[in-house]
Amino acid sequence: MAILNICFILLTALTTGSIDSITNAPMFELISLPYPTDALEPALSQEAIEIHHGKHLKGYVDNLNRLISATPYARMSLTQIVIAADSSIYDSAIFNNAGQLLNHNLYFTQFAPQGSNPPQGILADAIYSRWGSFDNFKREFSKSGSELFGSGWIWLATDHEGTLYIIQEANGGNPVTKGLTPLLGIDVWEHAYYIDYRNRRSDYINALWDIIDWQVVEQRYESSGVVENSCQQAIKALTQND
Ligand SMILES: [Fe+2]
Repeated sequence: MAILNICFILLTALTTGSIDSITNAPMFELISLPYPTDALEPALSQEAIEIHHGKHLKGYVDNLNRLISATPYARMSLTQIVIAADSSIYDSAIFNNAGQLLNHNLYFTQFAPQGSNPPQGILADAIYSRWGSFDNFKREFSKSGSELFGSGWIWLATDHEGTLYIIQEANGGNPVTKGLTPLLGIDVWEHAYYIDYRNRRSDYINALWDIIDWQVVEQRYESSGVVENSCQQAIKALTQND
């Protein structure tokens, strides 16, 4: 895949020191939630949201800013960091924290207090084409999330042709490392559901269908295709003059 070849070139530049270290101020901030912390009840309680967003996500923000300070990664977008660090055995901590930051930013911005109507238009057509019905898609997605072993994420993602996939990612993985655009992501780390659901992961996943904002997912689908340029943009950012 061309994107992997480009990322390998970028990785080589990073690990051989051919690009000078860069001093940058912390570049990532904790996102603001687009709803009050109690607005997603009963699917997600206020306590669960406040700890998940204010403690776990805040930790990923702080860790990543510390890890990339004065490195070439400080010139990259979050997606570019995830793709580049995934290629390096030396940068697993950066990959883990960048991946979790990207994942949670997508997660917290895909909910609405009352949910929304099912997807319409080209996303609905793509779902029906791939799974036959919206209910079949939800069933397959939930099953995949319930069966994922250990901590990770379950994603609805699209390729550059608009074909949809259900993707399991372990730990902080994101489909961007496979050249896919993430559209909908469900966090199945225990920290996401243990307060409200204890060990009942399936109940947590099923409850989330009531608060998905499908307009957000549709917008992500309609604007997909940007991932293919991420490595090229990263290289441009690294080679530009200060
Ligand atoms: Fe999480």
